[in-house]
Amino acid sequence: MAASRGTGQELLNRYTAADLAVFTPDEASRFDPEGCGDPRTEPALAWELLYRLEPELYDRLARAERLHAGVVAWLPRGVSRIAEVGAGTGRLTMELVERGRRVVAVEPALPLRRILERKVAAAGLEDRVQVTHGFFDRLPLPDGFADLVVACSAFTPLPEHGGEAGLAEMERVCRPGGHVAIIWPNHVDWLAAHGYRYVSFGGPMSVEFDSYREAVELAEIFYPAAADEVRRRGCRKVPFELVGINPPRDLAVKLLT
Ligand SMILES: C[S@@+](CC[C@H](N)C(=O)[O-])C[C@H]1O[C@@H](n2cnc3c(N)ncnc32)[C@H](O)[C@@H]1O
Repeated sequence: MAASRGTGQELLNRYTAADLAVFTPDEASRFDPEGCGDPRTEPALAWELLYRLEPELYDRLARAERLHAGVVAWLPRGVSRIAEVGAGTGRLTMELVERGRRVVAVEPALPLRRILERKVAAAGLEDRVQVTHGFFDRLPLPDGFADLVVACSAFTPLPEHGGEAGLAEMERVCRPGGHVAIIWPNHVDWLAAHGYRYVSFGGPMSVEFDSYREAVELAEIFYPAAADEVRRRGCRKVPFELVGINPPRDLAVKLLT
């Protein structure tokens, strides 16, 4: 999870240590290296289990937490190749198609990849979007492959979610003159120290659920402290300030020389 957000007890309570058996050896070596993690107390583990055990639930959340239009509009357009890392179920991926001829979406969690593949097929984009397995610290792409290398709500300075090795990999697969972009960054100062420029877009932003019912159901899981207020307001749109997370209105970018 890259956005600055607290994780409510409801999400932590959904899974137990026994669920960590879902990890592949490659995943366990990154997310639970000691083999004694507890998703009831470690939010990052609860999120990784969500992606693997309830991917549709994650997709419903990601569809509601839409990116500010300015973020996507800022990205270079008309480029040849784009690589996205930690693509999830495609919140950003499907927008990248408007900006590059070919998109490679790298995602470690198989259940999320399946949803993304389904969306790509439904849009008839299989010839332009390739969904593939990989991790930040070992990207399955050659040096200088892409004009734009991007991650949305996925990169953090922690080694398991990118870190120094992950940033170096993103920069390795970006061609000189291309851009690396971290969308919805959660450690802006860390990225600034690595030469990244911060860009943010203003205006009010809401989480936009499909229905009021969905807003209540998902608020109880993901924003429990705001659930009563979401219920009281009776609206499918919930302002980001109410749920207590910074809106997806920003990015940190570096032009590679
Ligand atoms: C909060 S989700 C964001 C997904 C998608 N980019 C979006 O905006 O909805 C974080 C994503 O990062 C992926 N991820 C976690 N650790 C990773 C790693 N080491 N390498 C690559 N992706 C990773 C997760 O599987 C998940 O898809």
